[in-house]
Amino acid sequence: MITAVLGLQFGDEGKGKITDFLSGEHSTVVRFNGGSNAGHTVVTESGTFKFHLVPSGALRCRNIILGNGMVIDPISLIEEIEKLQQVKKDLNIRISLMAHVVTPMHKYLDRAEEEVRSKLSIGTTAQGIGPTYEDKYARTGIRMGDLSSIEILRSKVETIYSMKRALLEGSEFESRERREEMVRQLNSAYERIRPYLDYTEITINRLYREGESILFEGAQGAMLDIDFGMYPFVTSSNTIAGALSLGAGLSFRKVDRVVGVAKAYVSKVGAGPFPTEILGEEAERLRKLGNEYGTTTGRPRRVGWLDIPMLRYSTMMNDVDVIAMTRLDTLGQLGRIKVCYQYASDSGPVDVIPRNLEDVQGIRPLYKEFTGWGPLDAQTLNAVVEKGYYALPQGMREYVEYVEKVLGIPVEIISLGERREYTIRKGSMKVSRVTG
Ligand code: IMP
Repeated sequence: MITAVLGLQFGDEGKGKITDFLSGEHSTVVRFNGGSNAGHTVVTESGTFKFHLVPSGALRCRNIILGNGMVIDPISLIEEIEKLQQVKKDLNIRISLMAHVVTPMHKYLDRAEEEVRSKLSIGTTAQGIGPTYEDKYARTGIRMGDLSSIEILRSKVETIYSMKRALLEGSEFESRERREEMVRQLNSAYERIRPYLDYTEITINRLYREGESILFEGAQGAMLDIDFGMYPFVTSSNTIAGALSLGAGLSFRKVDRVVGVAKAYVSKVGAGPFPTEILGEEAERLRKLGNEYGTTTGRPRRVGWLDIPMLRYSTMMNDVDVIAMTRLDTLGQLGRIKVCYQYASDSGPVDVIPRNLEDVQGIRPLYKEFTGWGPLDAQTLNAVVEKGYYALPQGMREYVEYVEKVLGIPVEIISLGERREYTIRKGSMKVSRVTG
């Protein structure tokens, strides 16, 4: 079984919990895009784990792969690997030789570019993601395989420095000694990372041929996709299902099942249009209830009502088979809940989220209202763990079934809290296409 798990909103949908849940059925987990801008939290009996580079499925899957489409800070990666090794001794991790390297200079450039953007700043995670992908496409980027050679590293760092000199003016990187120090640090990371480096695209195809089940773990969400997201307020990689073929090297024809993860409401960090955004006290309440603060940056997340036109678009772009819905436990604690089922505009109703900034400014969400189902007490949660979906409050089930009806896609997985056992299956997972 080849499964892909993708975010359907602006990231932070709770993909980590869903991949952790599904990882029990897969031997291999693969990340194929982004870098440490992602932050996944998994709570297990052994403690709470925060992942940025290593996929969250790593706790349970035998093989862990970081694909070529990723951008990786090797020093942070070593730290994450070492932390994980404390709870999982037999870690079999493979890192693509072709993944691009994020350096401290890229992190500096990320902040410098934001300053230049000024009013149009994106509110990036400042993890160097954008500048690293810029270098990749400018064909000046440093790849994991380059870490072995101090000469190659030096020449690439000097090329990047020359190209981006204006942005680096006044920074520590103006100093040749500082750049040389960075080159040496990167090179010294090589010895520790070398055992894991691999042509991961070959390994993935071999695992596929051997019949292993593979789980692809997306980072960010569809509305942050560089092509299909709310450009320019997006990340610098493709985040939709199609990206896994390019970012890991397994053909899209091999994917059996696409699981789209949606929060029961919407959250967003960073700037840009957010049609169903809630402001003021109500937003503050939801933010507190849901602990909506960025895993990577600690920033308070913007929050809003579930946006069906957005989900209609992102489920289409990801070709989603089933939806996993998270945070229904949080949402139910609000007395009055709204769902945007359509937008209105001066030129009439709008069913699909507009894909350009001007049009999206001109829309007004139309809402259907629900009554909150209250917090889930321990008794209800125990009943749900034991008996399943039908032990959930009726109001919550009505909400879930409404979403299924308007999207025409089953909500098969429901996550009701941080703990692994509070993620349940609604029915049997439907697999719409099986290949291979
Ligand atoms: P970057 O990926 O750091 O360049 O940030 C670009 C935009 O994507 C900003 O609005 C970030 O807040 C957002 N972003 C990037 N990664 C994540 C994520 O994992 N969750 C939520 N938002 C993210």
